Amino acid sequence: KKVVLAYSGGLDTSIILKWLQTEYGAEVVTFTADLGQGEEVEPARRKAELLGIKPENIFIDDLREEFVRDYVFPMFRANTVYEGQYLLGTSIARPLIAKRQIEIARAVGADAVCHGATGKGNDQVRFELGYYALEPEIRVIAPWREWEFASREQLIAFAEAHQIPIAKDKRGDAPFSIDANLLHSSSEGKVLEDPAVEAPEYVHQRTISPEDAPDTPTVITIDFEKGDPVAIDGAPLSPAALLTKLNQLGHDNGIGRLDLVENRFVGMKSRGVYETPGGTILLAAHRGIESITLDGGAMHLKDELMPRYASLIYNGFWFSPEREMLQALIDRSQERVSGRVTVKLYKGNATVIGRESANSLYDQDLVTFEEGSSGYSQADAAGFIRLNALRLRLLAKQKARG
Ligand code: ARG
Ligand code: SIN
Repeated sequence: KKVVLAYSGGLDTSIILKWLQTEYGAEVVTFTADLGQGEEVEPARRKAELLGIKPENIFIDDLREEFVRDYVFPMFRANTVYEGQYLLGTSIARPLIAKRQIEIARAVGADAVCHGATGKGNDQVRFELGYYALEPEIRVIAPWREWEFASREQLIAFAEAHQIPIAKDKRGDAPFSIDANLLHSSSEGKVLEDPAVEAPEYVHQRTISPEDAPDTPTVITIDFEKGDPVAIDGAPLSPAALLTKLNQLGHDNGIGRLDLVENRFVGMKSRGVYETPGGTILLAAHRGIESITLDGGAMHLKDELMPRYASLIYNGFWFSPEREMLQALIDRSQERVSGRVTVKLYKGNATVIGRESANSLYDQDLVTFEEGSSGYSQADAAGFIRLNALRLRLLAKQKARG
């Protein structure tokens, strides 16, 4: 039996690794992805070796460019937010991890894949829908749903019995659960579980507090091509480099903090504290360039479909025909979404203060309150309003008759 494990190198997935070896008698292949979580991935190799994984069974991949180019940017073309606020930083990374795990399983001839998500959350659904969509007969092992450990103490005891190194701060109860990548970091659980209580400052990892942000604003420009950002202040950047730079700018100006209660796919509500500094700037800027380059009808249709698209990603249906259909529509809408947006970053806010494009549909002559000319007669508006008012007047008269 050969299993490909999504391995972070942390305590929990190290326990899973040992558990697969001892309880399943499985040959374990580890896969560690660099998605820009801000942690070195090479220590995961040494740790895997220490736990008895053969060098040829250790896979470490830098997926940052693919992540931003093929997952994050396509999602931002739709201005995607879940339940009005969440920028889906964790949700959008899961399909890529699942895809790579399946590729590795094929390459090494493994018959199973394994992840470290619990049985109570969204991530198990996202991983496994991804696996099954790409490899329908794959066997899935989800240790959190299967093993008999009932407490943190039992897990620690198992780790000690198997010489798994345990960091000092992991010995007691883990303070809260963190997931991080280039788009966001999320914190859930433990000190955050009471939604009435404000999150302590130390929970935040990639933004300073808006209160501590500089008193002078930072003004930047972002260039877009067909809906994707391609340059900051005129300097072209790769997708991952661009998002990294926006994250730094967002960090320094206290941008992108979010404290919310969301509805999980499995039915419960959960409280999370998320930080999406670069993504928050990007969302504002993308709306800014769309505001002059996208036709109003196209924009409103996109906006209506967006919540559906967001739910598909949140619920783990990235590799589904309906997500691909929506993506085709969204991508088609972006053909003329090119140009430059100027954004002011100041104490937690990313405010669009300028936009320009060779494809602009904005017509100053048409909109001006001064005497304009082309193609608009104010007199036409009278009939336009009269006909739109017709049924409202009928209703009002009917109501008056009682
Ligand atoms: N609630 C968010 C989501 O479902 C974040 C999940 C965070 N995952 C984690 N392993 N801590 O997308
Ligand atoms: C987990 O349960 O592993 C994390 C939270 C989630 O997936 O929603």
